[in-house]
Amino acid sequence: SWKMDSFAENAVREIREKVGDGKVLLALSGGVDSSVLAALLAKAIGKQLTCVFVDHGLLRKNEGDEVEGVFGPNGDFDINFVRVNAQERYYAKLAGVTEPERKRKIIGEEFIRVFEEEAKKIGKVDFLAQGTIYPDVVESGLGGESAVIKSHHNVGGLPDFVDFKEIIEPLRNLFKDEVRAVGLELGLPEYLVFRQPFPGPGLGIRIIGEVTAEKVRMVQDADYIYREEVDKAAREYKEANGVEAPWMPNQYFAALTNMRSVGVMGDERTYDYAVAVRAVRTIDFMTAEAAEIPFAVLQTVMSRIINEVRGVNRVMYDLTSKPPGTIEME
Ligand code: XMP
Repeated sequence: SWKMDSFAENAVREIREKVGDGKVLLALSGGVDSSVLAALLAKAIGKQLTCVFVDHGLLRKNEGDEVEGVFGPNGDFDINFVRVNAQERYYAKLAGVTEPERKRKIIGEEFIRVFEEEAKKIGKVDFLAQGTIYPDVVESGLGGESAVIKSHHNVGGLPDFVDFKEIIEPLRNLFKDEVRAVGLELGLPEYLVFRQPFPGPGLGIRIIGEVTAEKVRMVQDADYIYREEVDKAAREYKEANGVEAPWMPNQYFAALTNMRSVGVMGDERTYDYAVAVRAVRTIDFMTAEAAEIPFAVLQTVMSRIINEVRGVNRVMYDLTSKPPGTIEME
């Protein structure tokens, strides 16, 4: 659109004026805001930008490779991209930890440590870029999705430990839909621009209780199947009816419960985990209700998960509203 063209053009000019020949560092999470910011900075200053992407091993299936595919050396942007494969470190730190808030704290603190180590290797930078958007800026309570999400991040200390002169926040006047429009304008793929919200602690809080590599595999595979089937059904509905499905959720994912139960598989008894699938419709993520995913879709999801994901023998649908529930289960 005209408005977004002019936003991107103006922003590029302003960034160039401000940054000069300085170096800029960005912690790229792969979420919508930091990805759009990376694309904007790439256009403005190219190789003066270094993006550090920490793969904490708690991302959705294939997500780390997708982020690397877009922003890495074979991707669309001429920037410096550093992927830190910190999976093992995170799993080691999380071993034996079951309490939700402690898990969040460990994941947040480990992020700071990993990012700090990378920042040291890069040396002095002039600017630290942050993907703050307008709803993050306004008072909490008025803010929507992003404010809720970022208040959960538990990484308030980010700027303190990196050696830099100034923070730049080029998206701070934009609403989420404007951020997405800029992302499309800059050539980011649609799956990235229209990504559903994903918590900073990632699958760490979608595995109830202790996190292990094996459980990460189970929840990743179950979640992938679930999203694939919901997306397929939503696409088919739209093709057939010309409008979006009335049940289309704003956030939908699988979680691995801590419950194991008895089942049968062929002639064998199993004693395996239960996956909970959840889908919510919400406007501001402060309240939400379970979406009415068609039963046939849920049945397909159930049978695929049980057949395709080793270690899972039961699938349950979470009907809980928020309040009294939360959207995530931890
Ligand atoms: P809840 O579970 O609080 O979730 O109803 C509301 C929205 O916030 C996301 N969420 C988080 N995001 N770190 C984040 O970055 C977190 O610790 C966290 N916990 C929840 C959740 O996915 C939903 O969109």
